[in-house]
Amino acid sequence: MVDRLPLFPPGSEVNQQGHLVIGGCDTVALAAEFGTPLYLFDEAALRAKCREFKDEFGGRYPDIVVAYSCKAFINKALLLLLVEEGLGLDVVSGGELGIARSAGFPMNRVYFAGNNKSSEEIKLALESRICRLVVDNFHELTLLGELVQGLDYTPEILLRLTPGVDPHTHKYLSTGIIDSKFGVPLIDGEKAVVQAMSMPGVNLVGLHFHIGSLISEVEPYRESIRAILGLAAEMKRKHGFELKELSVGGGFGVRYTLDSPATPISVFAEAITSSVIDGCRELELETPRLVVEPGRSLVAQAGVALYTAGVVKDIPNVRRYVSVDGGMADNIRPALYGARHEAVVANKMREEESEKVTIAGKFCESGDILIWDIGLPPVTAGDIIAVAGCGAYCLTEAMNYNASFKPAVIMVRESKARLIRRRETLEDLTRLDVV
Ligand SMILES: Cc1ncc(COP(=O)(O)O)c(C=O)c1O
Repeated sequence: MVDRLPLFPPGSEVNQQGHLVIGGCDTVALAAEFGTPLYLFDEAALRAKCREFKDEFGGRYPDIVVAYSCKAFINKALLLLLVEEGLGLDVVSGGELGIARSAGFPMNRVYFAGNNKSSEEIKLALESRICRLVVDNFHELTLLGELVQGLDYTPEILLRLTPGVDPHTHKYLSTGIIDSKFGVPLIDGEKAVVQAMSMPGVNLVGLHFHIGSLISEVEPYRESIRAILGLAAEMKRKHGFELKELSVGGGFGVRYTLDSPATPISVFAEAITSSVIDGCRELELETPRLVVEPGRSLVAQAGVALYTAGVVKDIPNVRRYVSVDGGMADNIRPALYGARHEAVVANKMREEESEKVTIAGKFCESGDILIWDIGLPPVTAGDIIAVAGCGAYCLTEAMNYNASFKPAVIMVRESKARLIRRRETLEDLTRLDVV
């Protein structure tokens, strides 16, 4: 039997009935109680990841900020948990900032990135007195220069640069190469730094980069740090620029499948902190505050999607399709960029994987396939399929295709489950229509 439990939240187990148990809760019972598709988050796993980031980076470096990148998953219950764990927040839109405000997230822990912020979004950030605006380009610098006029405080900003480093990940997940819509290319770095330093009413406190997502190698981070520190040293020499803060973004890979690489956070932390410390020593720079912005790596493994199997279609000598009651509308990742997940039959955890099946969604696109060719026990209608690694970029990229309802979300902890987002209803689907 294949043991896929390591892909689920730590502590997941199988009970006497052969059911998958997460956070002490029988997932088959959860599916019956809350309905499917159902997304669940294991609270202990989320908190453990927050602490792992703080400990691994904080144990190696004197001054760190862990700012969770909430594009991976945003929900008020999660935000409150992050406040308790002492994390900061990376937002990329007025919407994310608005949700953080409404949850009472401390604004002085918020970083705001994004490649095309509107005037309204920048105004909201300024009015909220967020921690740092991460300025992405020259247009934004000019806009900001106009919007800060008349402010009664001086906002602190970071400048996002593209270091020109290939992180060796999927093209759609790569953001630090020169041919990217994000950030100021390193070659224009001096011009941007000089412009920002000369702007009245704004304080340039540091530099930022984010090279991509689902990265398993540490060398791209090392290379990027070398490039950015090199620019910082040159700017210090030429223009008296002081690098007080450096953000290395997020992008840390996670293990979605048993055969995918699993680089521990400690390995990223060691490579990043040592590169910054060594680089600063060599270049005679003060070590800046170090910001990391994990998104995926903080929530992916803590989240699990539960579906109910319906139609099983056999095409002799070709394929067996198992269709479930969700799919690309709640998890676009496999269809969008070939993301791979693994799954189990939550009510048949002790049965041999005697079949190879393809798990299909229920939406009207042939590309709506969640998992190709996975070995599972014989699946019949009514079985509960639990897909691992669904905590990041599934719900935040979810849609209402085919007028589907976005799933309910629950948090499990110590054998108890609580609803943290209700399932959408027909009223939700028509709420915005104007007749
Ligand atoms: C600026 C910035 N920081 C952090 C992240 C989080 O990346 P990940 O979820 O891969 O950790 C992103 C993702 O796109 C980003 O754009």
